[in-house]
Amino acid sequence: MQDGRTTLSKFLIDTLDRKPGPQSQIGLSALLIDVAASIKTISAALTKGALAGNYGSAQSVNAHGDEQKKLDLATNDIFLQHCEWDGLLAGMVSEEMEGVYEIPEAYPRGEYLLAFDPLDGSSNIDINGVVGSIFSVLRVNGESGEAGFLRPGREQVAAGYAIYGPSTMLVLSVGNGTHGFTLERDVGNFVLTHSDIRIPEDSCEFAINASNERFWEPPVRRYVQECKDGRSGCRERDFNMRWIASMVAEVHRILMRGGVFMYPRDFKTPAMQGRLRMLYEASPMSFLVEQAGGMSITGRERILDVKPRALHERVPVILGSKNEVARIGRYHGEYDRGEDKPYTSPLFNERSLFLPDPV
Ligand code: AHG
Ligand code: MN
Ligand code: MN
Repeated sequence: MQDGRTTLSKFLIDTLDRKPGPQSQIGLSALLIDVAASIKTISAALTKGALAGNYGSAQSVNAHGDEQKKLDLATNDIFLQHCEWDGLLAGMVSEEMEGVYEIPEAYPRGEYLLAFDPLDGSSNIDINGVVGSIFSVLRVNGESGEAGFLRPGREQVAAGYAIYGPSTMLVLSVGNGTHGFTLERDVGNFVLTHSDIRIPEDSCEFAINASNERFWEPPVRRYVQECKDGRSGCRERDFNMRWIASMVAEVHRILMRGGVFMYPRDFKTPAMQGRLRMLYEASPMSFLVEQAGGMSITGRERILDVKPRALHERVPVILGSKNEVARIGRYHGEYDRGEDKPYTSPLFNERSLFLPDPV
């Protein structure tokens, strides 16, 4: 670029295509450019707001029983149309489709698998709040159909999200750090504006849907209570809480300034392991967070090591600043080993009786 700026295509060509040898990921840059084209189209549709007649319910439910918005379906179609034709994909999985989307016979099949959440935080749509799209790319490993997708997230060759806020950004990793690109709307280019994003290791900000508190496990209650105790509690500093109800917006904030995001295991719906889906929410976001120096766990194990058993499997998610997430992981271990009696006692919060030593 003569103006010294790095567009998404220049970044991908430099990073992927000019590195021949066994590491070469032929076609991946072209696939990511098609994904970026989907994102630009979605961004343009969202910007029209209610004028496009796209608000409201589609009067249908997806495979998990969630009500589908018209825009959940429209953005799903945009991803399919932009990515099915290019001969780079062997199949797609989406939050809004029950099974694997097979590439139509009219198009050649390729070496990659794409999983996506076309519209994350869609409950924010009708209030003109921040939403996003999330995607994950695997290379085919010989297995076809669902089995090809049911692999631990550490095998991803690329992951990213788009955030549709006051500006549209694409945040991406192909395994060499996490990088952010801002859409220059009048030109249509994604321009590298946030190179090698690093999540601060410590933070005083946490995000959780506090209305579920009574369903949380004791280690999560312990962590959140200690944050709320603030300066007068064992953490000896005040914490701030945020909840945007869009994982993309929460993860973006954490990449920009640190913090912790939790959608932990809870007992609200005992059959469900968590709220967020592994393939197209937890797995790609964990990849981006780790590539930015953060940590992402279920509470008991690294998310990128979890092998999903079903396309829409849910998983508990605790991610963000390394030292805070490690602390929450430690609390789960102490709970499982029965070493945190003060917190599991019914007298927890009676701080005069059971205030633990500062840790
Ligand atoms: P989606 O809109 O794709 O179904 O995902 C919404 C998810 C996630 O983005 C967010 O963190 C969470 O659901 C919000 O949950 P609450 O409704 O409990 O706030
Ligand atoms: Mn989502
Ligand atoms: Mn969604």
